[in-house]
This record gives sequence, C-alpha cells and structure tokens, in this order.
Amino acid sequence: MSTLHDPLSLPAFTAPNRVFMAPMTRMRADQPGDTATELMAEYYAQRAGAGLIVTEGTQISPEGKGYFATPGIYSAEQVVAWHRVTDAVHGAGGKIAAQLWHVGRVTHPDLQNGGPGVSASALPFDGSTTIADIDGNLVSAPCPTPRELRTEELPRIVEDYRRATRNARDAAFDMVEIHGANGYLLQQFMSSSSNLRTDEYGGSLENRARFPLEVVDAVVDAWDAAHVGVRISPLIKFGGLDDADGLEMGLYIAERLNERNIGYLHLSEPDWAEGPVLDDDFRVKLREAFSGVIIAAGGYDAAKAERVLGSGWADAIAFGKSFIANPDLPTRLAIGAGLNPLRPELIYGGGRAGYTDYPTLERAA
Ligand code: PHB
Repeated sequence: MSTLHDPLSLPAFTAPNRVFMAPMTRMRADQPGDTATELMAEYYAQRAGAGLIVTEGTQISPEGKGYFATPGIYSAEQVVAWHRVTDAVHGAGGKIAAQLWHVGRVTHPDLQNGGPGVSASALPFDGSTTIADIDGNLVSAPCPTPRELRTEELPRIVEDYRRATRNARDAAFDMVEIHGANGYLLQQFMSSSSNLRTDEYGGSLENRARFPLEVVDAVVDAWDAAHVGVRISPLIKFGGLDDADGLEMGLYIAERLNERNIGYLHLSEPDWAEGPVLDDDFRVKLREAFSGVIIAAGGYDAAKAERVLGSGWADAIAFGKSFIANPDLPTRLAIGAGLNPLRPELIYGGGRAGYTDYPTLERAA
C-alpha cells in the first residue's frame, strides 16, 4: 500500500503528500547581491506539487557563502526577492521552507573579501568549492585553512541565524530548515574530526553539540518550534568529515531536538555522496529518539521510499536529483510513469537549460 501519496500533518501545516523536494545548490542567484531571480521563482513554482519544497542552501551572512551565486537571506533586497519566490510557490498551491546555511570552512577567499573562511578549528576541508573565473566560467578551487572562531564571536553567528529566520518569515516562507549536515559549519562543530576546541564548544559530545543547539534555540526563539526543521547527516564523509562518534552524535542531537518539539528532523543519508549505506538499525534508533516528523533523503527511489515509510522510520521522503529532472515528480510516482533523465552537466549555474526546461508529462504528451 502506498503511503508516499498520503497527506502528512506537520506541526505548522498539512502537506498534501510525502514526496518532498530536497535542498539542492543551483548557483543561479543574481550577481552581485545574491538575490533570488524570477527564473528561480519559476523553477520552484514548477515543483509546487511537492508536499514541501526545501530551498537550496541560502547563506545567513556574507561569511556563510561558500560557492558562486548561491542566494542569501540577510539583506532587505534578498527578502524582497525571496518573497517573489514564495508568492509563486504559494500561487501554485505549494509550501516552501528556506534552508539556512553557513558553510564554515567550505569556501574560498574570492567569496570572503580575500580572507579565509571560519570554522570550529583551523583545520582545512580537504576538497574544493566552485567559484567563477574572471570570464564568469565556473571553476573548481581548493578551500584554504580556515580561521578558528573565537569563543566570543559565536554569539554574532547565532544572531545571524536569528536575523535570517526573521527574514525568512518576512519573505513568507512556510518554515526554515537549519542546515546542520553535510560537513558545513554546524557539523564542523559536531564532528570530532573538525573540532579540536578546548573551550566549552569542543571536546565531549555535549560540548561539540553546544553551538548547533544554541543556533536551534535562537531560531526557535525568532519564530517558534513548529516552524523550524533541522537537517543532519550523521554518517556523511562529504565535506571531509570522518566521525568516530557520528551515529552517537546524530542520536544525541535527535534527542535534544525531540525535547524542543521542532517541526521536523531531516536526515541526509550518506549514499548520495558515496558514503556508507545507512542501515535500518540506525533508522530504528532515530525513530526512538525523535517522535516528531522525520524526513529521509539520499538516493531514494519509490521502492526504497515505500519501504522506509511503511516501516514507520520516516514520515516523508525528500527527492533531489529526480526532482530536478521531473517538476511533476509526485504525479509521476503516483501513476508509475517514467522519469526524465537528469542532465548533470547543467545542475550548477547557467540559465533555463537544465533548470526550468524539463518537461512535465502533460507537456510531453
Ligand atoms: C553542494 O553544493 O555541493 C552541496 C551543498 C549543500 C549540501 C550538499 C552539497 O548540503
């Protein structure tokens, strides 16, 4: 029996189905200013059949930016621009959450006024990001060693999250999602491989979770718990992490979020990024730790989705690449229709091609 197409009651609203759209970087924000465009509004509105859309990561401050042309949510212009996106999605009958992002060390001096990024510790991300060369072509560039954040600087970043939350609310988003996954700033604090701090934000598992939870508390305070989702990825290797106690941390965070009654917990499973496959044992434990809405994401197809939903380990599934290529994905899954293939070379940057030109079944017919 299919559960993907049943409605789902979240604390903030009822989603008409459990086929959610996962957050995905597309690098098409207007330059300079990192504002959302009319084309982005069209892209998201085309996908309004999702039970919930989660936007691409949107940086909470200039410091939180790590890739070329990602949108921000800290300036007045960005709020106006995002409001056009939420209007378009709501006009098409959809719901949309803003993903609040700080990349930490996954950035480049070209995006940071020439300086390094910031992180829990001065340990480099062993990998690269994507920036633009002087001709505007996307190029890969290594991320230099970040600067370790001083203890007294952390409240400034918490305030950036708070302002971004108020901005998302002003821009008429239906929720915010805190990006605590995939090796970006908050996970750089959680992970023992990227956090060597000796203050109360490093060392024990409780200490490493402290900053991410302070961010959650500020965001909840700026809106309310029902409108706040949190994304985690306990096993991910993406972002240069190798967590000795990643699963334990995942469960600890889930328990703390359960106490806070947040709107949902979003699990980014590692297999999309060539990480180890998450086993059912963790899904069972996560379900025990968190009694609210759980969204699972990461390389799902309909069969895997039905299995995990049917077992009660998740309440909704977020689809990524298949939602890029299929704006009407919920309909296609409901009737068992074929899927458009993804054109991976068109994921990042550029214009309409590979963005708003994927046909719906109706247009194809
Ligand atoms: C990416 O841009 O490659 C990216 C961004 C955010 C994620 C994962 C990947 O959570």
